[in-house]
Amino acid sequence: MENIIYFKNITKKYPGVIALDNVSVSIKSGEIHAMVGENGAGKSTLMNILGGEILPDMGEIVLNGKTVHISNPHAARLNGISIVYQELKLCPNLSVVENIYLGRERESGGGRINWTKMNMESREVFKSLGVDINLKVTVRNLSIAEQQLVEIAKAISLKSDVLIMDEPNSALTLNETEKLFANLKRLKGQGVTIIFISHRLEEVFKIADRISVLRDGRYLGTYNTAETGIDEIVTLIAGKKLVSELSHKKGKDVKFDAIALEVKDLCRGKYFSHINFQLYEKEILGIYGLQGAGRTELLETIFGMENPDRGEIFIFGRRVHIKSPVDAIKNGFAMLPEDRRRNGLFSNLDVKDNIGISSMREISSIGFLKRNRLLEIAREFVKMIGIKVRSITQMVRNLSGGNQQKVIISRWLATKPKIFLMDELTRGIDVGAKAEIYKILRKLRDDGLSILLVSSELPEIMAECDRILVMRNGMLVADLSREIATKEKVLRFALKG
Ligand SMILES: Nc1ncnc2c1ncn2[C@@H]1O[C@H](COP(=O)(O)OP(=O)(O)OP(=O)(O)O)[C@@H](O)[C@H]1O
Ligand SMILES: [Mg+2]
Repeated sequence: MENIIYFKNITKKYPGVIALDNVSVSIKSGEIHAMVGENGAGKSTLMNILGGEILPDMGEIVLNGKTVHISNPHAARLNGISIVYQELKLCPNLSVVENIYLGRERESGGGRINWTKMNMESREVFKSLGVDINLKVTVRNLSIAEQQLVEIAKAISLKSDVLIMDEPNSALTLNETEKLFANLKRLKGQGVTIIFISHRLEEVFKIADRISVLRDGRYLGTYNTAETGIDEIVTLIAGKKLVSELSHKKGKDVKFDAIALEVKDLCRGKYFSHINFQLYEKEILGIYGLQGAGRTELLETIFGMENPDRGEIFIFGRRVHIKSPVDAIKNGFAMLPEDRRRNGLFSNLDVKDNIGISSMREISSIGFLKRNRLLEIAREFVKMIGIKVRSITQMVRNLSGGNQQKVIISRWLATKPKIFLMDELTRGIDVGAKAEIYKILRKLRDDGLSILLVSSELPEIMAECDRILVMRNGMLVADLSREIATKEKVLRFALKG
């Protein structure tokens, strides 16, 4: 195969950090090429250069043997390159189909916009993705998974020669991911070159022909998937041997007499109905289910972001009325939302304030902010889960996607909650940090925290949870202790009971 793209000696510096340090990589025409590396390794920066979002300080991009200047996204498109960005870039106030054709509306005679044609074409793309979506709905009203699918559909509909996907399926379930992969393989069959970024190495090994590794802005090499293994790549990514990504050490002392959280007959509209369960003290309780099963809605309702139609919530045996997140926090809840972009970061604040903002009660005394305590807490977390920052006064908006997530996780851990609701905890987090975060989780659990962990990642659910609930179509369909839970069983309940 010929090289379609050659990144030649690319360097990109930001104040205090070299995002890319003289990186040279070739991409072969018609291959699926994975880019892997820790949070902050430089993957998105490299892709954003190819996508015309940012300019390199040095180096060039050679496309089909010719040096090209991709100085803006339009130029990238003209060169046959399209990209699904890590952070979604849709216009929230436009409809699905308007988003897909933004800036390249199909016209019929007389300059009139040809909606019929655009609708038909988009429907086709969604059909190939196995997605049923209302094309007229405003994007703001879609779930993140749906938004991600719209981005993907948009990129595919551009019919580009090179398709870049920066963690395109981070919010998708197994099923949706499989359909996406089938599509990528089909596109590859048609000669499309695909660059794919993901932290989930199992899937990288399933789909990629070759894998390139970046670490701290440096290029470490490209490997044929068939000739390497996950362990080898993990070692390259982390720069050290990880003991084991998912440790199986469990808390022995789940106290089945102390109930931290009890939910009785909770119902909310079409989202879920008659939910009953108990979360014990010092327990990590997993909730598995497919996208749309109602898991996120359940968590949001418990946390007071939405009101239930009926039902009761008890905390350590005491009935509570949670009308808002503020109530929830007062009652000892913390919540890591699924959509961190919308519900979490203060991009205009720096790292330390983002970490400290929810634990001000502890940090401030009689109105005075204990600045030293804040600095101490921030430094502690930055070190503990390896947040890659130049300094704790760096603006959060300049961090890589995964490092932003780590900041939010730290913020909630710093509040020392009693009950922690977590929605897709390790989405977008690199393997090394994942292991650290699980370790922290287990320690917190052993120190008395009760955790409700919603996850679409079966390996995470299987390895980290003391007990597993399965949701399907808004109902709880299984409650499995880890002794009897197997992957197959959990999946079977999630799919059809
Ligand atoms: N606009 C910016 N200003 C300052 N620093 C930046 C900016 N954009 C990126 N960086 C820094 O460049 C480095 C590489 O970031 P990049 O987003 O490319 O990482 P990544 O490999 O995509 O990580 P992740 O897996 O977390 O998405 C990081 O240290 C990041 O903080
Ligand atoms: Mg990135």
